[in-house]
Amino acid sequence: MQVIVAPSPEASAADAADAVLAGLARAAGRDPVLGLATGSSPLGLYRELGRAVDAGRADFSRTHGVALDEYVGLPAGHPEGYRQVLLREVCDVIGLAPDRLAVPDGSATDEESLEAAAAAYEARIAGLGGVDVQILGIGANGHLGFNEPGSALTSRTRVKRLSERTRRDNARFFTDADDVPTHCLTQGLGTILQARRLVLVATGDGKADAVAAALEGPLSASVPASVLQWHADTVVCLDEAAAAGLRNRQYYDDSAAGLPAP
Ligand code: GLP
Repeated sequence: MQVIVAPSPEASAADAADAVLAGLARAAGRDPVLGLATGSSPLGLYRELGRAVDAGRADFSRTHGVALDEYVGLPAGHPEGYRQVLLREVCDVIGLAPDRLAVPDGSATDEESLEAAAAAYEARIAGLGGVDVQILGIGANGHLGFNEPGSALTSRTRVKRLSERTRRDNARFFTDADDVPTHCLTQGLGTILQARRLVLVATGDGKADAVAAALEGPLSASVPASVLQWHADTVVCLDEAAAAGLRNRQYYDDSAAGLPAP
């Protein structure tokens, strides 16, 4: 696990962009697959990737985008549905083709159809050859994607109930708090772990406790993001505020400095 702490959210977004581009570069010879998170945390990263495109340092025209999750039961085209969010916040910003964006289909409302949509999504990811780099945020309660505390560490894409904490946190995107859906389809923790590289971005003191528990607490379903410890190529990009609860901070900084000059 690489933990990179930057002096500001903007500098952290630049670190994350470097980690994403380096991970995607390993897909040489085939179309790369980028896993996409919604929420406020990755917005700076997406802008940074957009700047890399403008500067000719990156090109996402052949990249496939794969969403982490989607709400269940929002009408098609709802502006807060994650397909629409990702079209606005990612496709428009980095030049990813809308027809290369895969999002779980949360339009059904019966369990059987949603289970079928979840299985279809797993098949879609497998058909693309798996995810090269998965961008992740972290919920204040330690959730990853929409894998709420209690999620099986080996879980696959499935229907999940949202916790009331998450619904409250996400109410800011809706006119009325009651409009926040109660359920979602989310990649499972086991699905996320199959991505070749994970890049977690977190900023602000509201994430400090969740980050400390995820990186330095026990591997536990109570803190779903603790599965990051299980992955062999995790890069965690933080600003100072989000890193405030870390006990091992000196070691992370020493490691980030690299080998001594010969
Ligand atoms: C959302 C998303 C997650 C995201 C998290 C944190 O509900 N499903 O993928 O990482 O909550 O959101 P934010 O970055 O806005 O704090």
